[in-house]
Amino acid sequence: MIRLAISKGRILEESLEILKKGGVICKINPLNSRKLIIPTNMKDLEIIIIKASDVPLYIDSGKIDLGIVGKDTLIEESNSNHYRLLDLNISKCKLVVAGKPKTKYFNNMKVASKYPNVTKKYFEKMGLQCSILKLYGSIELAPVLKLSDFIVDIVESGQTLKDNGLKEFETITDISSFLISNRTSYKIKRKEIDLISSMIS
Ligand code: PRP
Repeated sequence: MIRLAISKGRILEESLEILKKGGVICKINPLNSRKLIIPTNMKDLEIIIIKASDVPLYIDSGKIDLGIVGKDTLIEESNSNHYRLLDLNISKCKLVVAGKPKTKYFNNMKVASKYPNVTKKYFEKMGLQCSILKLYGSIELAPVLKLSDFIVDIVESGQTLKDNGLKEFETITDISSFLISNRTSYKIKRKEIDLISSMIS
């Protein structure tokens, strides 16, 4: 059995589309179901529905063989020990620094983010000290309510920044989603994994 984790949210819909195009059909539609383990038309392939930030841990543990996950999660969980098999070029967006217009960087500024490790490294490289506030969602609220001076967050259409009166200052990196594999799974199930990988590439 091969287990393929797909993260909930924006990646799920596009992942299901590329799977469908490649001939993999879910027997239950994960978009209308609360089931977390979804059988497919391939008898040895199951889709696992999981929160993005949990994908690296499951893949590292070997409980799940493959995952479709954003580069944002991969760079945040940089200790994770997996193979990046394929850039799927889906769920494209970017990771940016944003804040209220006219705000300037300063030492000991506060930066809110779902990505504390990436944020810390980014500002350290610039030689700037900052305190990082780890948030779990609605990150744009932090500078609006003056909880933080800046945010580091995902921008796709730019609508959330615009609607909350915030400005994008710098792009940290462009993001897309990757197919990743547990290292041992790739050794012992290589034929099956290569087949799945070729079906969705
Ligand atoms: C993400 C991200 C931004 C928003 C950007 O949040 O954190 O808030 O999408 O998208 P946009 O540029 O198209 O407006 P998500 O929708 O994943 O929800 P969250 O706030 O719960 O993290």
